Amino acid sequence: MAVKEKQNLKDLYINFFLSKNHKQIPSAPIVPENDPSVLFNTAGMQPLIPYLLGEKHPYGKRLCDYQKCLRTNDLDEVGDTTHHTFFEMLGNWSLGDYFKDESITWSMEFLTKVLNIPIERLAVTVFKGNDKIPFDEVSYQKWLSLGIKESKIAKTVEDNFWIVGETGPCGPDTEIFYFRSDDEIPDVFDPKDERYVEIWNNVFMEYYKDDKGNVVELPNKNVDTGMGVERTTAILEGVNDNYASSIWKDVIEKIEEIANKPYKGNEVSMRIIADHLRTAVFISADPASIKPSNTDQGYILRRLIRRAIRHAKKLDIDINSNWEEEIIKIIIAKYKPYYQELTTNEQVVYEVLRNEKNKFNRTIEKGLKEFNKIAKEKKDIDGLTAFHLYDTFGFPIELTCELAQELGLKVDVAGFQEKFKAHQELSRSSSMGKFKGGLAGNTEIETRYHTATHLLNAALKVIVNKDIHQKGSNITSERMRFDFNCDHKLTPEEIQKTEDLVNEWINDGLDVTVKEMPKEEALQSGAECMFIEKYPSIVTVYSIGKVSKELCGGPHVKNTKELGHFKIIKEESSASGIRRIKAILESK
Ligand code: ALA
Repeated sequence: MAVKEKQNLKDLYINFFLSKNHKQIPSAPIVPENDPSVLFNTAGMQPLIPYLLGEKHPYGKRLCDYQKCLRTNDLDEVGDTTHHTFFEMLGNWSLGDYFKDESITWSMEFLTKVLNIPIERLAVTVFKGNDKIPFDEVSYQKWLSLGIKESKIAKTVEDNFWIVGETGPCGPDTEIFYFRSDDEIPDVFDPKDERYVEIWNNVFMEYYKDDKGNVVELPNKNVDTGMGVERTTAILEGVNDNYASSIWKDVIEKIEEIANKPYKGNEVSMRIIADHLRTAVFISADPASIKPSNTDQGYILRRLIRRAIRHAKKLDIDINSNWEEEIIKIIIAKYKPYYQELTTNEQVVYEVLRNEKNKFNRTIEKGLKEFNKIAKEKKDIDGLTAFHLYDTFGFPIELTCELAQELGLKVDVAGFQEKFKAHQELSRSSSMGKFKGGLAGNTEIETRYHTATHLLNAALKVIVNKDIHQKGSNITSERMRFDFNCDHKLTPEEIQKTEDLVNEWINDGLDVTVKEMPKEEALQSGAECMFIEKYPSIVTVYSIGKVSKELCGGPHVKNTKELGHFKIIKEESSASGIRRIKAILESK
């Protein structure tokens, strides 16, 4: 196909929308900062929900980006030609600015003029209408006027209404499909024809669905679009296997080299390794400092790494070598120009994957032996055995299921869950604890503790690790409690030095100042914050001398001299990968 192959799709897309007066916004972290009920961003629009609901965006009304997304519902399907866990989504948005007309016109222009896709290969669906929302006549007419034949426009209902989850901004959409086959293109478009793949979705977000199922109009008529980078790149390069596109080619070649085996015949394991390591890179590089664990995002990270190791073993890769590092080096180099955190946290990524590999390598051999022994003896794997494999050998239940499935055996997952439940509930409630807390009241002593929290946060970064961030806090008039990410118990020396540094800053008599600024500017200036989306577009930033800068609602003391003497009374574990410090302020 006469496509501008040498140019990266992301760059072509962003440049096109910049030329249509859009502003490029940075990709939000893959771990949402505002919503503990969601583990990862699953769509480009997710970080923009407050703005789709009407809040003013500091960058204006026309936005575009490439957004890191992660969907774990398809995790077990990875291994075929089209599934990925992590993917990049290109998107352009109108926040109450342009609507259907421009949106469809620009999509058509980008596909046929910039990507040079022949119009005959395109087909679209539009919203047919239901008892609440009428047929999308405007989109239908627009496509016709742009040269899409009537027989290539399908009117459907189910797939043409888009919402993330159950409630939130939503609306009818029009989806654009590409005919990915050498067969003759049929006269009439059937959206169920698997030779057609969806490449772009334009959602006209003018409604809000509440938890009772009511659909009401939003203050603005918005546009939200999404185009998958992996899929579209494969199409443009004329390959039927996504993993054969330029996005994956060098990664797969490296795996072939390390395994000393060809891709052909080993596709499934190689795709799983490539996909899971890329996703593990992005999770562990995220500012949320996720580490492999048995809950939440950490559990997904653990599953991905352990599944990749299992498949490396299947390919007879020496899992004790630095095989994973050789592969992730290529992945990091490829994405570094687009995602700053891969530069900042490159060493963290190597370390996280290496540590988890070493941990699992110690038990995988024995675990597999145990599994094979049981599998030989028994018909199916009972709950207790599955729990034993999990508890003693670190086999995520999904891994046990996969192994069993390969041998045509069943696993009593419900039985496993039962054994697991007590343990899980315990860790879940402690992990949810990190989202609670904050400033409980505004008495004078509590205000002092609040300022001390900022100093402690800053001191831990200096003394222990610059990647430490606040994960929760709780203040009473008696004491402060502060949770933060950290992979080890603080040593007595670290505790002493942290305490000393806070007291040094208190004695320095640093002024506490407050400034209002746009949220984006605050973040760019390096201000620290816990859940960025929780804050409005104009935020207050509290600075303490030059030692601390945080987005915060206050209140704070005017000068650190007012704090008294800071003393750490306890350091303990709060949840997996989260430590907790309790401290008091004493009068001098
Ligand atoms: N939000 C829409 C999607 O993810 C564009 O498909």
